[in-house]
Amino acid sequence: MSRKSQNGAPDVSRETTQDAQAGQVSGGARKVAPDEPFWTPIADEAARATKVLHPENMQLPAPSHRRIITVANQKGGVGKTTTTVNMAAALAIHGLKVLVIDLDPQGNASTALGVEHRSGTPSVYEVLIGEISISEAAAQSTQSDNLVCVPATIDLAGAEIELVSMASREARLKEALSPESLDQLQPDYVFIDCPPSLGLLTVNAMVAAQEVLIPIQCEYYALEGLGQLLRNIELVQAHLNPSLHVSTILLTMYDGRTKLADQVTNEVRQHFGDHVLKTVIPRSVKVSEAPGFGQTVLTYDPGSRGAMSYLDASREVALRGAKMETR
Ligand SMILES: Nc1ncnc2c1ncn2[C@@H]1O[C@H](COP(=O)(O)OP(=O)(O)OP(=O)(O)O)[C@@H](O)[C@H]1O
Ligand SMILES: [Mg+2]
Repeated sequence: MSRKSQNGAPDVSRETTQDAQAGQVSGGARKVAPDEPFWTPIADEAARATKVLHPENMQLPAPSHRRIITVANQKGGVGKTTTTVNMAAALAIHGLKVLVIDLDPQGNASTALGVEHRSGTPSVYEVLIGEISISEAAAQSTQSDNLVCVPATIDLAGAEIELVSMASREARLKEALSPESLDQLQPDYVFIDCPPSLGLLTVNAMVAAQEVLIPIQCEYYALEGLGQLLRNIELVQAHLNPSLHVSTILLTMYDGRTKLADQVTNEVRQHFGDHVLKTVIPRSVKVSEAPGFGQTVLTYDPGSRGAMSYLDASREVALRGAKMETR
């Protein structure tokens, strides 16, 4: 059914209709409902862009201690990198200092943050083998003055094997992220983007962090393999890092046109309760286009639902962190 607003605005786009149906999906945070006068899709988008581009309207609390968050799921293509770079950019745009560590040889996070990652560039590989410090490897992102990234080059592809014979092989990243090393960069948040495996790189990320953020794609088989991931987290907790815990689950690539997306959402919420962010990331072309331009969706299309949803998700993470600390 085509809809027209009372002021004769054109049909609502398919994406927006889907958003309205989805209800809980973020990015449709409009002041005026679609059926009310003066609502147009363009006005809606402009309102969202204003919210994203004017951080002074939204204060995010700085955490009382530095939060190190590993973004992990051994399933490929579930939105780990997209979540890492967009959450990091959202927090950075809102005044918090953020360090992203690209721990995937594919180097996708480095690309999205506009950071050089050709072979030979100082990277996380040299950090892991102890040649350089984290601040020597950190490069300024084009996405925000508050955002730096330790890039991953293709050299990291051999690191899993090289690490096997090294001393304290599971704690190389933790040692590199010592409070003294991080004090040089002073980040409020550190996000570690993991590769799609449970190998030594992901174990290093889990040993170095306090929190795990698990992105779950709203698709068939979404929960497959999650048991194995949780068991690995428990093993790391028991033997290597007692302070590690799953703090956040984020549902990604939600498509309101499918019943399946709702089924997965309900199942994940039943299983993980309050750990699941209220914000759900919608499937959006803008989100997938942004890395091709060396950007996050927050700068590529700040008025898009994708940008708004990542802004909402990052606010939830920041506010939850603040609550946890005041307890
Ligand atoms: N909300 C979204 N809407 C549309 N496309 C998305 C969305 N989130 C991610 N994508 C696309 O899905 C693909 C996989 O996303 P991403 O690279 O973030 O996943 P990943 O878990 O990091 O993958 P890998 O396991 O390979 O590291 C990418 O092409 C990305 O652009
Ligand atoms: Mg990735």
